[in-house]
Amino acid sequence: MYEKLETKDGSFTYRNTEVGATYRSTNGALTESRYTFLEGTRLQERPSPWKVLELGFGTGLNFRVTAEAARAAGVELEYMSLEPAPMPAELWLVPDEWKSLEMNEPFQIGSISLTVVNARWQDFEPPADHFQAVYHDPFGPGQAPECWESPCYQWSLRALEKDGVLATFGASGAARRAMKEAGYLVGSLPGAPGKREMTVASPSAGAIGFAKSWKR
Ligand SMILES: C[S@@+](CC[C@H](N)C(=O)[O-])C[C@H]1O[C@@H](n2cnc3c(N)ncnc32)[C@H](O)[C@@H]1O
Repeated sequence: MYEKLETKDGSFTYRNTEVGATYRSTNGALTESRYTFLEGTRLQERPSPWKVLELGFGTGLNFRVTAEAARAAGVELEYMSLEPAPMPAELWLVPDEWKSLEMNEPFQIGSISLTVVNARWQDFEPPADHFQAVYHDPFGPGQAPECWESPCYQWSLRALEKDGVLATFGASGAARRAMKEAGYLVGSLPGAPGKREMTVASPSAGAIGFAKSWKR
């Protein structure tokens, strides 16, 4: 069910053969994680502690990239990630020390805390007005349509701080309209390798002033 793949930047991801999708872009898994989520949310410009809510833990690569950046910057990181269908932990693309965590419990190593919540977003209420960044990283609309519609964006908007930023690889007009309908302001950025565009969104125009405003 899980096929390990080397991607174009030399990093790895998996294909889920049951779902018929890869967890990260085959054009560069690590490059996409860094560019789209860590850099897309401008998390590194925030004060400590960094607080991230992720939709879709998958292989853990986004967590790994963010934890490495937090360590390098000497800041605390609180990372909460939802995953209704976890891969076996031994396959996760994270350092081994993280693989013994218990689902639904915060697991702390040094100044970094990771909670993997074994639930769909529909079944879990994260703390409100809390996170600086949302990594919106489900499978695409073909596999997970409920993650690209307005109720899902209402859910994450409630969890974001007032100047927090959501980032996603998704860039369809339908997804962007759903974000607007939920109450987000929407911005467009060039996408990671192999993708023309990506999307950032925030309740605050200033927080996504670095992106091209999307008004349609
Ligand atoms: C693109 S992968 C995530 C990749 C991951 N962030 C990484 O760095 O490897 C999408 C993930 O979203 C999860 N997912 C699917 N439906 C979901 C839902 N309703 N709520 C939360 N997660 C969901 C899938 O099980 C899958 O692991």
